[in-house]
Amino acid sequence: MELIVARNREDLVKARVAGEVALVPTMGALHEGHRSLIRLARARADQVVVSIFVNPLQFAPNEDFSRYPRTFDADLDVCRAEGADVVFHPSPADMYHPDRQVSLCSGEMGKIVEGASRPGHFDGVLTVVLKLFNLVQPHVAIFGQKDAQQLALIRRMVADLDVPIEIVGAPTVREPDGLALSSRNRYLSAGDRQVALALSRALRQGKAEATPSRIRAAAMAVLDAAGPELDLDYLALVDPATFAEMGESYAGPAVLAVAARVGGTRLIDNVTLTLNPA
Ligand code: PAF
Repeated sequence: MELIVARNREDLVKARVAGEVALVPTMGALHEGHRSLIRLARARADQVVVSIFVNPLQFAPNEDFSRYPRTFDADLDVCRAEGADVVFHPSPADMYHPDRQVSLCSGEMGKIVEGASRPGHFDGVLTVVLKLFNLVQPHVAIFGQKDAQQLALIRRMVADLDVPIEIVGAPTVREPDGLALSSRNRYLSAGDRQVALALSRALRQGKAEATPSRIRAAAMAVLDAAGPELDLDYLALVDPATFAEMGESYAGPAVLAVAARVGGTRLIDNVTLTLNPA
């Protein structure tokens, strides 16, 4: 079937079908990680809608909104190759009325860990995701585990606001050397890329330990060894659902998350692990 490109809400309404719909929200610059999300969506629904929208609301004025990679033609090829049915690509003016007043608040959970470094970021994410849900009206929506706090907050939003959409988290896709795929990886020079490998290496070393103190120490040793080219923002060992920091005696699932700047590019990564296994 021909890929439909819906550039506004009217086009989207025309593309609507009767069966199950899966939404893959993206900001474009699609890579193998997005391909895996589209494939998951394909297996789940009659119609797969991929949204491509670089959401101004989730970027602070000092962040990379204007230089965020925009590769629309290549993205369409990816969507076609993976069997998507519709690409929703609205303009900012179509998404946001100039006089809009109401937006979502991500609460205390949106202010910690990644939210502490990027104030307002998760409010912008939740606002656009809820709008996309209302516009596309999917039965299921697929998000990458790479943005673990975003995924947890979207699950929270759906629960707190009774949004009747199933949220599916998909595993992070990595390069063979461990680097988590990200649209921002294209900013990295060859040297930066070598330094950036410390993030996934630190997470692997942490995951090999069992107690919070040993996990943090093992991961920090790798990050410290990367030298001054790696500007660490945070290393956090948190509850997967709330993103609250884990105490030493806790036993159960956790997320070890890291954020750092390498050569001016901000990268995030995380792994899930089990603390104090029996
Ligand atoms: O993960 C992303 O690409 C974005 O945060 C999302 C979910 C598409 C909202 O703009």
